[in-house]
Amino acid sequence: MGLLEKKTGIVTGAGQGIGRAIALSYAREGAQVVVADFNEEMGRETVRLIEEGGGVAAFSFGDVSKEESVRAMVDFALATYGKLDIACNSAALSRGAGPIHEYERSVFDQTIEMCLTNTWLCMKYEIAAMLKNGGGAIVNISSNSSLRGQAYNTAYAAAKAGVNILTKSSAAEYGAQGIRINAVSPGVIRTPGVEKYFAEQPKMAEGLQKAAVMNRLGEPEEIAEAVTFLSCDRASFITGQILSVDGGGAVR
Ligand SMILES: NC(=O)c1ccc[n+]([C@@H]2O[C@H](COP(=O)([O-])OP(=O)(O)OC[C@H]3O[C@@H](n4cnc5c(N)ncnc54)[C@H](O)[C@@H]3O)[C@@H](O)[C@H]2O)c1
Repeated sequence: MGLLEKKTGIVTGAGQGIGRAIALSYAREGAQVVVADFNEEMGRETVRLIEEGGGVAAFSFGDVSKEESVRAMVDFALATYGKLDIACNSAALSRGAGPIHEYERSVFDQTIEMCLTNTWLCMKYEIAAMLKNGGGAIVNISSNSSLRGQAYNTAYAAAKAGVNILTKSSAAEYGAQGIRINAVSPGVIRTPGVEKYFAEQPKMAEGLQKAAVMNRLGEPEEIAEAVTFLSCDRASFITGQILSVDGGGAVR
């Protein structure tokens, strides 16, 4: 029996990278999964991979930084599978890097919207659905840049620090109603998003390649293992936590 048998879940940003690995892991453990992404081709490919492995999934198209898309995503999950038990909010987009005095306000605003506001919006509608269901579990994807800051990546680091406090505050709000809310904070993980970032920001790449004390990049599946555990009933007394999965990057 899988860890998530009979559960219905949403994974945002599940078209590639960490989100896709989480959606595959949820399905492998028996959950019915709504794969949400604004890249339709990649999202549908994740659904295909899940079905190929014998799992159950459906695709929801939309930009989760837009309230109407988030409402539609949760409505779609309820219409398709009847309830919502678990959700992982992984979708995020970093809009730029550079010294703060040269940073454009518009880039800062977009990064906050695509990393923090989107997470808040997803939680708003996921929690409303979970309350009707008598409880649930949410895992937000943070980043180790939120823990001690990251030079030249200030908007992203601040947005992810916001995700941490959103996680803790909402865990305090909804614990008594049976909703557990945690975050996983990845170190540097080998994903298409990170490979693109390394190509665009070679100076940042040098330091990030060496971030883990384990001397390697992490794999998306290693994040998915932690998210799956926090989503399942074995984590029944864990809420309000930020779990770094980083090969020791936070203790370097
Ligand atoms: N890869 C890393 O090293 C790393 C480190 C720390 C934190 N993270 C976090 O992990 C998460 C996943 O990262 P990744 O490297 O797999 O990213 P990625 O760029 O490889 O994939 C992100 C996916 O999310 C989708 N997406 C982004 N914004 C969206 C939106 N508004 N609406 C719908 N879909 C959207 C993209 O289409 C894509 O499929 C992000 O929250 C990221 O900040 C990643």
